[in-house]
Amino acid sequence: MNNISKIENYTKMRLDGNKNGHGYDHAQRVCANVRKICKVIDCDLDICIIAAYVHDLIDRKVVDDVELATRELQEFLQLELALPKSKVSHVITICQSISYSKGLELNSVEAKVVQDADRLDALGAVGIARTIAYAVDAGNPIYVKDDHSDGSAIGHFHSKLYKLKDLMNFDISKQYAEEKMQIMYEFENQFINFDM
Ligand code: ADP
Ligand code: NI
Repeated sequence: MNNISKIENYTKMRLDGNKNGHGYDHAQRVCANVRKICKVIDCDLDICIIAAYVHDLIDRKVVDDVELATRELQEFLQLELALPKSKVSHVITICQSISYSKGLELNSVEAKVVQDADRLDALGAVGIARTIAYAVDAGNPIYVKDDHSDGSAIGHFHSKLYKLKDLMNFDISKQYAEEKMQIMYEFENQFINFDM
């Protein structure tokens, strides 16, 4: 089995059944976004792809025991994929540093690529679907007039998602973000137009 198949299997197994927008399909789309960004950004594509697959496996939104998950991921990368220690720690650092809530300074071009790729999956049609799924799961409404808070799905567009474009690390990601945001504006407008 080649390394990509091993990573796919490992990620699929770990994310199977995830119900908060961090399933295996999310990992696959982040990977696809990485490939697009890497066409114009000079970086280590292999590292970006591996990190794209596994980036949510050591996040407390996804696993209960982050330390254990981190040790298991390290072992997998080192023993199953036979990555050198420096690459293992590079992948782990990317996973630990890219989250929006942490707001950390990123110290490698690969971390910046994966962060943009992850953020792009929060936008566009997929972003709308993930946001509504989250809101429904949390018992929140989809739309509340003038709400720009996390308390409604479309409120979350304003509180976080529309801000992501300016936070992108690369111009190419900003362009993709801009395209993806158009469909969100249109979607939101349909609700606003029903306001009396
Ligand atoms: P991350 O983008 O760092 O993986 P989150 O867990 O915050 O982080 O978000 C995952 C997805 O869940 C987001 O892309 C968004 O669509 C949705 N989401 C997060 N918080 C809310 C919220 N308060 N209301 C609606 N959707 C949300
Ligand atoms: Ni993610």
